[in-house]
Amino acid sequence: MNRDKIKELDSEYIVHTYGRADLVAESGSGAHITDMDGKELIDLTSGIGVCSLGYCNEQWVSAVKEQLDKLQHISNLYYTQPAPKLAEKLCERTGMKKVFFGNSGAEANECAIKSARKYGSSKNEKKTDIVSLIDSFHGRTLQTLTATGQDDMHKYFGPFPEGFKYVPANDVAAMEAAVDENTCGVIVEIVQGEGGVNVLDKEYVKAVSEICEKNDALLIIDEVQTGIGRTGKFFAYQHCGIEPDMVTFAKGIGGGLPLGGVLFSEKTMDILQPGDHGTTFGANPVICAGALSVLDQMTDELLDEAAAKGAYIMEKLAAMDGVTDVSGLGMMIGFKVDGQKPGDFVAALLKKGVIALTAHDKVRLLPPLVIGYDDIDKALDIIAQTASEK
Ligand SMILES: Cc1ncc(COP(=O)(O)O)c(C=O)c1O
Repeated sequence: MNRDKIKELDSEYIVHTYGRADLVAESGSGAHITDMDGKELIDLTSGIGVCSLGYCNEQWVSAVKEQLDKLQHISNLYYTQPAPKLAEKLCERTGMKKVFFGNSGAEANECAIKSARKYGSSKNEKKTDIVSLIDSFHGRTLQTLTATGQDDMHKYFGPFPEGFKYVPANDVAAMEAAVDENTCGVIVEIVQGEGGVNVLDKEYVKAVSEICEKNDALLIIDEVQTGIGRTGKFFAYQHCGIEPDMVTFAKGIGGGLPLGGVLFSEKTMDILQPGDHGTTFGANPVICAGALSVLDQMTDELLDEAAAKGAYIMEKLAAMDGVTDVSGLGMMIGFKVDGQKPGDFVAALLKKGVIALTAHDKVRLLPPLVIGYDDIDKALDIIAQTASEK
């Protein structure tokens, strides 16, 4: 089948919810994607923060294949080996106490919001409010879409669930004013990904944690995009010296297969009881076997390397003509380009063999953590050249 036929079928038979770029990906290896005509591109997206160990990481592929040959699924009514091992590793790595496994970031946040509501309403029937940040993104289910602090996402699909409030990021006074005895949870991303790669101040995050503590509201950190090494720590909240009540994760944990979940602290680990929550595919053994391999490879050395590479990229970007407003943490980076719209800039990069993303008014980079400096330099040269072509 040729490229035009694929696009034609996609257009005719797949619901048009995505604005696809002009790339038909055929295979991937490390930080490279090869398209269906054999053209190789440098990938600075990791499939939107998913394939952090690069495409077709050998250890991950073997772990997945090995489990696939044994058992692909059995349901959550029975035990399998990979999920409890994975949960143990996640808890050891964070000091959290228990995990619920689902399939995506939205589901993870849905589970955390349900848990906060159950916690709150057991104390006071009005304690059901959730506070989130303006420019946040928490998912596409009705509840997580409502938690998402972006008005343009609240156009259709109403009536929306009640009990959500939004405050500006990095504004302690606004958070103090919004959280009260009727707040059951506060949900934040340490770096807002879809919202424009906006980094929360560490002092602000600490203050939010204290405000939650004072009001007995649960602090939920959405680590769907920031988690599993993306920012140079295993979870981004670990930059801030706080202990969240729930941490949601997805994307990077599965290495390319759909896995998400919630980590619960001692305080929150018993909120959900039998029958309160569930999902058919959560804790799938094949995906959890792959995730175990992701965690094995997510060593402190790799995290340090990711932090160093991220700092290197940001420094080079900040020195480039035409590039402004560089922001980010580790390998989660945003920037603006003078006189060019992010979408146009990303399309121009793609033509020159570099895959990048947008986030609001910014270009966004989420490179695989394993990308080499040779590829980083090649991609930065192309970015510099493209930024100079207003
Ligand atoms: C911070 C954050 N939360 C939640 C989500 C939703 O995750 P998913 O698309 O897996 O449902 C995303 C997706 O981009 C995200 O970046």
